[in-house]
Amino acid sequence: MSTSAKRKAVSPTPGSSPPARPAPAGPTSPAAGSPEAAGVSSFPAAPANTDDALTGAHWLQQGMPEEDDQDADSSLGSDVESSTASISSSIFNYRMINGRTYHSDAVTDIEYWAPNDEKHLDSLEIYYHGVELLNDHQLHMSPLKDNIERVIDIGTGAGFWAIDFADKYPNCEVIGTDISPMQPSWVPPNLNFEISDASKEWTYKPNYFDLVHVRFFVGAIEDWNAFYREAFKVCKPGGWIEHYDHSPVVTSDDGSVVPGSAMDTYGKVLAEAARRIGRSATLADDDTMEEGLKAAGFVNIQTKRMKMPLSPWSDDKKLKEVGLCAYSTLSADVEGVVQYLFGNVMGWTPEEISVFAAHMRRELKDKNIHGYYHWKYVWAQKPEDAQ
Ligand SMILES: C[S@@+](CC[C@H](N)C(=O)[O-])C[C@H]1O[C@@H](n2cnc3c(N)ncnc32)[C@H](O)[C@@H]1O
Repeated sequence: MSTSAKRKAVSPTPGSSPPARPAPAGPTSPAAGSPEAAGVSSFPAAPANTDDALTGAHWLQQGMPEEDDQDADSSLGSDVESSTASISSSIFNYRMINGRTYHSDAVTDIEYWAPNDEKHLDSLEIYYHGVELLNDHQLHMSPLKDNIERVIDIGTGAGFWAIDFADKYPNCEVIGTDISPMQPSWVPPNLNFEISDASKEWTYKPNYFDLVHVRFFVGAIEDWNAFYREAFKVCKPGGWIEHYDHSPVVTSDDGSVVPGSAMDTYGKVLAEAARRIGRSATLADDDTMEEGLKAAGFVNIQTKRMKMPLSPWSDDKKLKEVGLCAYSTLSADVEGVVQYLFGNVMGWTPEEISVFAAHMRRELKDKNIHGYYHWKYVWAQKPEDAQ
């Protein structure tokens, strides 16, 4: 399976220059009738052309937002070509970018956007709770039998789902795979973690797993059709695959996420950066999942769509809590989410990222902004008579 050209990890070095970028956008001011003029929030105005909207210079010109300039009422306050690599010390030789660590080049040559350090993992734990709650704490959607034998969680991260699943099904062997060895060691006895690159050919026996589970894997895979073919191969006839994922494009139903705002920029630049390294970041907005599963041979394809508020702005009790989890996660590590894709791929400087992140945090705090992500849960079955 092909991977994109390897982009080396870069730490800033004296005398190094950033990649060539378009000229900065000119200074901006709020237009009459704009949300800012209406007192909704203070946004940098959108750069005049789309290319400029994808660069960071524009954000540097804004300067840091003032933390305390919001009306208290509108602010939230404090509230291997084979897939399996052997465990060796080289998998801990993490890539280092601007003080953050990423998976080791010894494990895979693929580009993956998220750091694997403690700061990012801490934020993921809260997020896991929010993602679970969004789907009413249903660990799985497929009608699994009580006597299932083997389940695999691809891109397990810190193994939150795998641990919960292994606890619920103590007689089932659970495997969690990842390219970073960041899983805990105190786990249920029926759970094992493996360091393995899911974008390569899978080495598990054919017709082996009752369930292949994939969650929050956006931006990880270049060829989803190939990925689902591998999943089909290892899935038992009559077994299931579940893929629960989202799109980072931020939307609002009431227009409160304004073009050119940090929230608007966030999703658009992430999606464009992912596109430039051959990935789709918009799995929940398009039909990649359903079409890939169908092409691989899965049947009984079912879809559930959900909206995840990015802060606790919703009147709905559940969505308010989901929003609080999303808010805590994102505001704790905006830099971690954007650094690789904005910096290494799109050429933003660390300073531009830093100013942008401050604006993003400020907008996340503003309860007049009703931004949300799309999430999509897709589950499907391997035909009983399949080989
Ligand atoms: C955003 S995290 C989500 C983790 C977990 N599924 C959850 O819901 O909390 C995605 C994980 O996929 C892992 N990953 C990325 N590319 C991968 C690949 N090609 N093969 C296996 N794991 C990968 C990353 O290291 C990261 O831990």
